[in-house]
Formats: sequence, structure tokens, C-alpha cells
Amino acid sequence: MLQPAIKNLEPENSDGFDQKDWSSAYCNVEKECSNIILKLVAGKVPNSLNGTFYRNGPGRLERNGTWVHHPFDGDGMITAINFKNGEVNFSNRFVRTKAWEEEEKAGKFLYRGVFGTKKSGFALSNAFDIRLKNIANTHVIKLGNELLALWEAAEPHSLNAENLETNGISNINGALEAKEAFSAHPRFDPGHHKEPRMVSFGVKTGPKSTIRLMEFSTEGDNSGKLISDRKDSFKGFAFLHDFAITANWAIFMQNAIDFNPLPFLLGQKGAAQCLKSKSNGQAKLWLIPRESGLFSKQSPRIFDAPNGFVFHHLNAFEEGNNVILDSIFYRDFPSIGPNEDFRKIDFNKLPEGILKRCHINLLTNEIKQDVLSSQCCEFAMVNPKFQGYSAEFSWMATAEKPIGNGPLQAIKKLNLKSKEAIYWSIAPRGFVSEPIMVPCNSSSNEDDGWVLVLIWNGAKQKNELIVLKANDLSHEATLEIPIKIPYGLHGSWVNE
Ligand code: CO
Repeated sequence: MLQPAIKNLEPENSDGFDQKDWSSAYCNVEKECSNIILKLVAGKVPNSLNGTFYRNGPGRLERNGTWVHHPFDGDGMITAINFKNGEVNFSNRFVRTKAWEEEEKAGKFLYRGVFGTKKSGFALSNAFDIRLKNIANTHVIKLGNELLALWEAAEPHSLNAENLETNGISNINGALEAKEAFSAHPRFDPGHHKEPRMVSFGVKTGPKSTIRLMEFSTEGDNSGKLISDRKDSFKGFAFLHDFAITANWAIFMQNAIDFNPLPFLLGQKGAAQCLKSKSNGQAKLWLIPRESGLFSKQSPRIFDAPNGFVFHHLNAFEEGNNVILDSIFYRDFPSIGPNEDFRKIDFNKLPEGILKRCHINLLTNEIKQDVLSSQCCEFAMVNPKFQGYSAEFSWMATAEKPIGNGPLQAIKKLNLKSKEAIYWSIAPRGFVSEPIMVPCNSSSNEDDGWVLVLIWNGAKQKNELIVLKANDLSHEATLEIPIKIPYGLHGSWVNE
């Protein structure tokens, strides 16, 4: 453990953290800021770190005394933290979605949330033509001149990358149809086919599922232009949050899960609460050939997947006749039932995320799996230049304890080859969100760069931005955030 940023205080329960510290991060974001210079609390901001850290997450969790049933039902709020020659500027703005504007005006929830918020759709399918609230809260990326706030069941919202003002719904230069689902997990191909690209997908699901795989240019004047597009259909319902890419494949895992729409249609449950693991169900791995790759125009390959439920993949790569896929596996779908308060969840009752590696043999159809790390983790990434390649290192958020589920309180750098790990922890009173690894442009070492992470400091009741060195996780800087921000979802780094 390296340099705890917060002084150790005795934890109030045997699990090493105080639930009140953890849950105190949940609040409404009360203010929108424009270019506020952040106060440096400790260390020094590296001068060579220049660019913007964008992040997205729920910013509105309560209206008129009513709380969302799950934070994933909270409206998207974008944070932009700009680094320039050692100075750090902070801006934040809610995405002006149609529903946000209406609910702001009304002062109450007018839409149901997909995760169970009553009257006030994780839309799984366009088949359910019930009013869905596109809450634009899951991810934020830059494509061409557009900053896109993503939510997987509908189109992105386009924002101004400088001042975060909402331009409106984007069809990405005509690529998307009205209300078409567009994943919140695009993958940035660093140049497997000469030029860098953004690869993404949309899924229409029901008794069969159709995946639309799209590749966009990310260079020059063509940036944002759709350059490859294919559709493939598969048997059965699919819940697909993320995927992975290699030079030749786009890889999806169809979790063994069923959707019973009745309680949703009857208004008893949010759509995502109607997902349930299929007993004796068989998960599948779908490998779709990339149009620019060696297997272009061929049919997808389908394999039986190991047991478990996956939201997020770390990375994938090819090795001889094998495709290797690293993913965070849960033993079951973790959901919050209709009568539970998300702020009071018992971590010990929820399955933990375990990083596992699947070896998919394309010749023999054999699947082998091993564990990369059995410590509860989420939000794992490799150096973006190694997307689709065999990477030695990965960075992720982990629980403090080595076994079992717990809140995310540490950043871990894991060597994927030797399985050695090093940590930076802010337990017992601090909590981390998704770490972003920013490679150093002037270095060819895979682990040279920085890790940026927004933390909730329970002792100070404040958010702080932490800058770590990526190679040894040594502390570089702590900056104080002027507003309270609840735990977020995904973010990205855009070089100056
Ligand atoms: Co995600």
C-alpha cells in the first residue's frame, strides 16, 4: 500500500469501512461550474499532463423528497477537468435531455427509471415502446467535434466540448436512426488497420438479438464518419453492456439471463429489475468478424461461455489460434430488489467482480478459463495504445479486502503476466471511482503515464481528484473539487 491520502481513523464496522462514509457521497449535484481553478491540496500537478478528463455519472438522485431507486436512474451530469501546464480547471453541467428539462420544470420525477425508480426504462429493447427516459448518464467520449454523452438504449446527446452545453440528440453524422440504441462502451482501436478507429455497437433484443457493429474514423476531417457497418442476428435475449475488440474480432458475451417484462409492464419493477439469471442457462460468446480484418464477410463464431455474469471486459487479443478475453465475472446478476434502499446495501450479500481470462481456441472450439485476480474489482483498463493487443499491465478499482465484496477503496496496478499487484489505497474513509490511465506521449514504456481518479473523501465530506504515477502508483497531486459529486460511471481522456 502506497501513501494513503487520508489519515487512518478507526473504522466503525468490522468490514473496515463505515457505511455512512460510503453512502454520504450520494446527493444531488447542486451547482454547475465553469472553468473554476482547482485548489491543490497536496503534491504537484505534472506539467507534461495536458488535456481534458471528461466523466459522466448520475447527478440528480432526488426530486421533491423522492429518491431514485438506484443511482443508475440518476440524470447524466458531465464533469470536465482540464490540465494545462500544471493548472487545473473544472467545469460541470447536466446534460439537457428532454426528460431532465421537463422534470426540472415540474420539480418531480415524471418518468419511471429503468432501475426501478417509480414514475419518475435500462431499456432493453425497442420492442417495449414504453416511454423511456434517455438519461445520458453512462459515458462521455469525444468523436470529431462532438462530445457525446452516452446511454446504451438510445442515441447519444451531443455536447459542446468547451462549455459542456447540450446541442441535442446526435445521429453521428447520419449513422443512427431515430431512437436507435447505441452502446455506452465504444472501444478505441489504436490502429490495427493502419488508422485509429472507434468501434461501437447497438443491440435490438427480444426472442432473437441483432447486433449492429459500427466503426467510425477518428482522424482529421473524416472523424466521426461511419466507415464500416454490419448486422448479425443471434438466438435469444441479450443483455450486452460492453464488448471487446482485437484486430479481427468484436467479442460479445451473451449472459445466461432472461427478461420477464410483466412486472415492468405492470409498473411494479423497472426494466432492469426484470432481468433474472436462467437456471441451468448457458452463456455464449459471440465473435463477430471485423469488416477490416482477415475474416471479413464471414459469419460470426459462437462458443459456450464459462458460467457467470459479465458487465465489463478489460481487453482482448489474439495469440496463435486463440482469442484471449479478459472480463470481470460475477457469479450471478447483481440486482437491487424493489424493497431495498441502495444506500443501505450489504456488500457481503452481493457477488464480487473477479477478473478472469478466457482462452477461446478457434480451431478446436475449446474454452479454457483462469483467474487473473480474485480480489473484488471493477472499472479495469489497459494502456489505450494496447487496446486489442496483449498488454502486460492493467489498472482498476478494487475493494480494500482481498476476498469478498466491498466498496471500491483502492487503485490496483496488476501485471497480467506475472499477476503481481501494487496498490494505492484511501481506505478506511475514502472511496474511489473509475481510474483513467493516461499514457505519457513521450514514452514507449507501457506503464509510463498517470492514473486519474475522482475520490469521495468521507472524512472531509468532499470529492478530490487524485493524480498518481501509472508505473508505481506513487502520489503526484490531490486537488479539491468545489462541489459534491455522487459516485459516477465512465469517463475518458482527450489529449490537448
Ligand atoms: Co459500463
